[in-house]
Amino acid sequence: MPHGVQKSKRARELSKQSNDQMIIDAGQKHFGTIACKSCGMIYTAASPEDEAQHIQYHERFLECLRYVCWKKERVVAEFWDGKIVLILPDDPKYAVKKAEDVQEIVDNELGFKQVALSCPAKTKTYLFVSNEKMIVGCLVAESIKQAFRVLSEPSTVHSPEQDALQQHRAWRCSTEPEPAVCGVSRIWVFGPARRRGIARRLVDVVRSTFMYGSYLSTEEIAFSDPTPDGKQFATEYCQTPTFLVYNFVYGN
Ligand code: COA
Ligand code: ZN
Repeated sequence: MPHGVQKSKRARELSKQSNDQMIIDAGQKHFGTIACKSCGMIYTAASPEDEAQHIQYHERFLECLRYVCWKKERVVAEFWDGKIVLILPDDPKYAVKKAEDVQEIVDNELGFKQVALSCPAKTKTYLFVSNEKMIVGCLVAESIKQAFRVLSEPSTVHSPEQDALQQHRAWRCSTEPEPAVCGVSRIWVFGPARRRGIARRLVDVVRSTFMYGSYLSTEEIAFSDPTPDGKQFATEYCQTPTFLVYNFVYGN
């Protein structure tokens, strides 16, 4: 991959902003930055170099998400629109490689200091595979011992603009640890497949398969340093804005 493409999305956004200042808008048809709805890359349509980089990244992205059926795949759930496959660290190399490739894409899209997994040898990767054999969702789960409750902010805002601001605000959480079992280290759904309950079904399946013989409650799972999307999803999924988090950066 070209160097520029490996940069995180946020880093790309920032560098794009400074690059933009050097481009003069001479009325080009596609002037300005474009965020690809599939791969998430932000690029300048007016720049052939940028467009070429995008095409290269976009193709690698789709290649990583292509799923070729394995003989011994571990299907943990089946739906009308796809299935969920679980990959464990001791699985055959090709399966582990797929999990790693997808995680690389996810980390690139989440686009910031991803906290390393506490114990890669115990990580469970759940992939949602569509009927078209494309990986459209990924959840990486790990064992944790404790988590912290998000402190709900008093809701005093009303306008949609203020609501949007509120969502992007850094959240605060309690300093009192609470016992927890399963950490959602990463959760990601392919852009065009969002809001179809894929993340919801991934978490449902994690709750029923993460610990043998028990169905975890939403009080036993925690989300790693949630993004604004993640926060909205978790609030809805756990039916409370005070869901559990872990791996956050102190000072948040
Ligand atoms: N804004 C508001 N509510 C949202 C939301 C969003 N962006 N995403 C999910 N929800 C809520 C909705 O109430 C939704 O139900 P509805 O669609 O019937 O209204 C419910 O959560 C279930 O959502 P679901 O369809 O299961 O989520 P998803 O498959 O779209 O995936 C994410 C959610 C967060 C995984 C997805 O947006 C994503 O991949 N984002 C980029 C990566 C990321 O930020 N991951 C979170 C890391 S903590
Ligand atoms: Zn793209």
